[in-house]
Amino acid sequence: MGVLKSIAAFEQTPEFAPFDSKYDRYLRGEYFYDPLSKAAEGKGLFFSQQFTNCATCHQLKPNSHRQELFTSYEYHNIGVPVNQAVRAINSKGGDFVDQGLMDNPQVTDASARGKFKVPTLRNIAVTAPYMHNGVFKRLSTVIQFYDHYLTNSEFTINPETGDTWAAPEVPENISLTELEDGKKLTPEKVEAMVCFLYSLTDARYEHLIPTDGPDCGE
Ligand code: HEC
Repeated sequence: MGVLKSIAAFEQTPEFAPFDSKYDRYLRGEYFYDPLSKAAEGKGLFFSQQFTNCATCHQLKPNSHRQELFTSYEYHNIGVPVNQAVRAINSKGGDFVDQGLMDNPQVTDASARGKFKVPTLRNIAVTAPYMHNGVFKRLSTVIQFYDHYLTNSEFTINPETGDTWAAPEVPENISLTELEDGKKLTPEKVEAMVCFLYSLTDARYEHLIPTDGPDCGE
């Protein structure tokens, strides 16, 4: 077997991609989301085109596909702010702008400025901090950040800084059509979304799920 084929074969093995999160087990009929649980509510919200926009960018396959990787593989600018704490200690000057896709020398179209590839959400509970620059520490903050694009959002303050959301690092090319499409969440629904994302954790990493997050029940 050639090297590429070997790697491809390895990537299919349970060691590499176990696909045994609660969500995967649910799809195989081995796990049951209590219909009254926060995770079940979050699952409904996540895949709903009516209430949230997450699936627009974080879904590739038809609903309930067992090989869903929770990314469309597209590039988007979602308006992530600079991580000032990192910028203060790395060698980049204050004027530096991380242009994302545009920094690829083969990309010349200015519409690529500020875009990053949509990342997977598998095992997202255990891979903080979030975004390409790690600007958000908690998943609840990420959900609230998305919510701030929606009409009448109650999440106008970044809970990690206690201040209003900082300006996007690259203000052009923001995918506002997608980001402004959805209904604002309540604090309870934010928790529900976080609990659903927790259920995307492979069994071997479940013990790493933060204990200071919402109580998701079983
Ligand atoms: C317009 C497309 C788009 C929409 C809509 C969208 N996302 Fe994202 N998401 C992205 C992109 C692009 C990134 C990476 C941004 C970066 O690194 O700067 C990202 C990053 C994330 C991250 C952090 C991933 C990591 O590894 O750091 C989480 C969690 C997340 N999204 C969850 C959601 C949820 C939940 C929703 C719905 C409320 C949602 N996204 C809606 C495009 C989108």
